[in-house]
Amino acid sequence: MNIIQDLLKRQESGFSLSGEFYRDQAVFEAEVDAFMLGQWMLAGHASRIPSRGDYFLFEMAGCSVIVARTGDGENDIAAFHNVCRHRGAKLCEKAQGNNKAFYCRYHAWSYKLTGELASWRHMPEALDKSEFGLMPCGLKLFNGVIFLSLAPDRAPDFDKMVEHIAHRWDRFDLARTQVIHREVYDLQANWKLGVENNLECYHCLSGHPEYTSAHAFVKADEKAGARAVDEYKQFYDAWLKSVEPTGIEVGVSDYIETDGQLCRAMTWGIGPKHVTGSMDGQPLAPLLGHIEAYDSSVTSGCFGFCSYIIAYCDYLVTVAYVPQSAGRTHIEFTWLVRESAREGADFDRAAVTALWDVTTRQDKDLIELNARGVDSPAYRPGPYSELEWCTSDFISRYKALMARSCADADSESARN
Ligand code: FES
Ligand SMILES: [Fe+2]
Repeated sequence: MNIIQDLLKRQESGFSLSGEFYRDQAVFEAEVDAFMLGQWMLAGHASRIPSRGDYFLFEMAGCSVIVARTGDGENDIAAFHNVCRHRGAKLCEKAQGNNKAFYCRYHAWSYKLTGELASWRHMPEALDKSEFGLMPCGLKLFNGVIFLSLAPDRAPDFDKMVEHIAHRWDRFDLARTQVIHREVYDLQANWKLGVENNLECYHCLSGHPEYTSAHAFVKADEKAGARAVDEYKQFYDAWLKSVEPTGIEVGVSDYIETDGQLCRAMTWGIGPKHVTGSMDGQPLAPLLGHIEAYDSSVTSGCFGFCSYIIAYCDYLVTVAYVPQSAGRTHIEFTWLVRESAREGADFDRAAVTALWDVTTRQDKDLIELNARGVDSPAYRPGPYSELEWCTSDFISRYKALMARSCADADSESARN
């Protein structure tokens, strides 16, 4: 039995994980191997690379990937490992830019935007140039949102994965949106602590005053006074009636795992006097997609453990917890509004980004506080509350996935 299996056996259901899972590089490397490289990760939106040759880098767990627009068609986007096929130098060094081709500054090999090797010098005649193209990553566009798999031979079936929730996103017409701001929060904590925090609002009342004012369900879920509960119930009943004619599906979708990657979506009402996710409850930008009126809804979805989209009727955010090492995670955040909206005339960027920026800074602080505690030898796994059911569900699925991967590795080595 390997060390991970041994650790997994000692985890108690309904409790947080033992410290090794939050701090050991060996556990992190096992996770990378078990599912992280194969699973689909949200890497950005196609509007980040509007013109042929535009690219950005996506970096995860020591891997660097070039995501590039390879042609003029809407879907002409490809992703390659940012590693030269000669002796492995990194090709693109800047986080984003525009290139006519990818050029290696070590010995001057060059590659087409589509990844094929374009030129080399003084190489043996017998070698076939076509075998030395850049190594492709898996790439899927979900209505303009870019998902990557760094090991596509091990990737879950993406279309099957999103099949049961795809219609929930139709009304937002995500493909016709534009990124207006991007922020990378450098989190000094294990990625699972970030995801655990993201999946519960047990900390919202004390940790997020702005989010709590904007989302009345926080106080209602906390049962913070009969008035808060009654007010939200009244609001929610009226809200259900008001959105019924629009035909939107409300509540939580099925939780479905496809080849080990979970996907779900949920829609509910924010609260009275708040038509969107703004500080003052007022509209922030033109309505998205096919939405005809500000409707006080929020739709959020997860695509695997690390990737999320949260949409109000006039803007959305994409969120990815991108693991870098056992103790470091990038929280990559983008804010998007309708493609035709113009800054200044139709929206104020600072106003659109205000709520989720302040909330994410508060989260970063709390998650790092958590990380500093679980680093201590005195840390012991603690029980999840009823408001942390989603976090507890994540941890159960994580443990099952790791156990499955260990068992698969065992049977593989028994065969060999
Ligand atoms: S390592 Fe790139 S050309 Fe040599
Ligand atoms: Fe939070």
